[in-house]
Amino acid sequence: MNVLVVGGAGYIGSHCVRQLAQAGHRPVVVDNMVYGHRAAVAPEIPLYDAQIGDESAMRAILESEKIEVVMHFAAYAYVGESVSDPLKYYFNNSVATYHLLRAMLDCGVKKFVFSSTCATYGDVEPPIVEETPQNPINPYGQTKLDVEHALRNIAPAHGLSFAAFRYFNAAGAAEDGSIGEDHNPETHLIPLVFDAATSKRENIQIFGTDYPTPDGTCLRDYVHVDDLSRAHIAVFEQLNQPGAALFYNLGTGTPTSVREVIAAVEQVTGMKVPTVEKPRRAGDPPALYADATKAKTELGWKVQYPTIGPIVETAWKWHKSHPNGYGS
Ligand SMILES: NC(=O)c1ccc[n+]([C@@H]2O[C@H](COP(=O)([O-])OP(=O)(O)OC[C@H]3O[C@@H](n4cnc5c(N)ncnc54)[C@H](O)[C@@H]3O)[C@@H](O)[C@H]2O)c1
Repeated sequence: MNVLVVGGAGYIGSHCVRQLAQAGHRPVVVDNMVYGHRAAVAPEIPLYDAQIGDESAMRAILESEKIEVVMHFAAYAYVGESVSDPLKYYFNNSVATYHLLRAMLDCGVKKFVFSSTCATYGDVEPPIVEETPQNPINPYGQTKLDVEHALRNIAPAHGLSFAAFRYFNAAGAAEDGSIGEDHNPETHLIPLVFDAATSKRENIQIFGTDYPTPDGTCLRDYVHVDDLSRAHIAVFEQLNQPGAALFYNLGTGTPTSVREVIAAVEQVTGMKVPTVEKPRRAGDPPALYADATKAKTELGWKVQYPTIGPIVETAWKWHKSHPNGYGS
């Protein structure tokens, strides 16, 4: 398949591009390079520096590259920033996506894979299934839910088939340590804990130690970035059905606490992680983890990294060899 991967120079997109190429598909990347890294994409893969909201640019790429399916990773994903600057998120994550979809339909491209998020659920009782009511508690989650709703309407009207994958916490890096996570600013727990272990930052702050969880800290569901990528390829067959409207949670289903992540980093790195305990942060639900039975049964999706230890090992391999990310 000729697959357009928008946001393909970012963290999850670049891992998916690599897996697509390994599986014999032909990925083509679009990224506006606001957060993307040229070095995350192999030099032989076409990379266009373009905005997904630029319909004429997108039409030109869709046509010249004979694209058959679009995978959409291009978004801003800083929850705090989405609260302070919501319009930036509504325009980039929702409105730009509608332009992309119109360009696709103009060009007759009718297969779409969308990166949605567990943030569409808000503060709910886990384990979270696809039917759990979605009530996002921040603009970021709302922008993703808005796109999900638009897709539900567009699919039957235009014969678009789509899968919306609701990722839980993406983590880890390619097995060979050659590509990995490099966000600036970084807000994700595992790279921040590495920075505390290696004295790049003074300590790691643990927000809330009195949650009703086994060790008092928040529980999250860390899912390996290559496991996420495999689901994107596994769904191709389902997209052959015109109008297919598919929603899947992608998580391991294994709840992991903040303290367990820190312990895993200490074990893998052999380094001590300095910690500071802080009060709970507003808007942090105690526990978020998936029931991903639907993806497993319908797509035959198999998680190859079900627990935190091996996920941290791959992340450490990347981090150790690239202490300053792609700028190393
Ligand atoms: N990382 C996670 O844990 C997580 C969890 C749930 C959902 N998601 C979603 O997965 C997707 C990928 O996340 P990530 O962590 O790889 O983020 P990322 O920032 O590393 O990658 C996103 C890429 O999209 C590009 N981009 C953004 N807006 C664009 C636009 N208008 N036009 C072209 N390119 C644009 C950025 O430059 C960046 O390279 C996002 O949609 C995010 O919301 C991520």
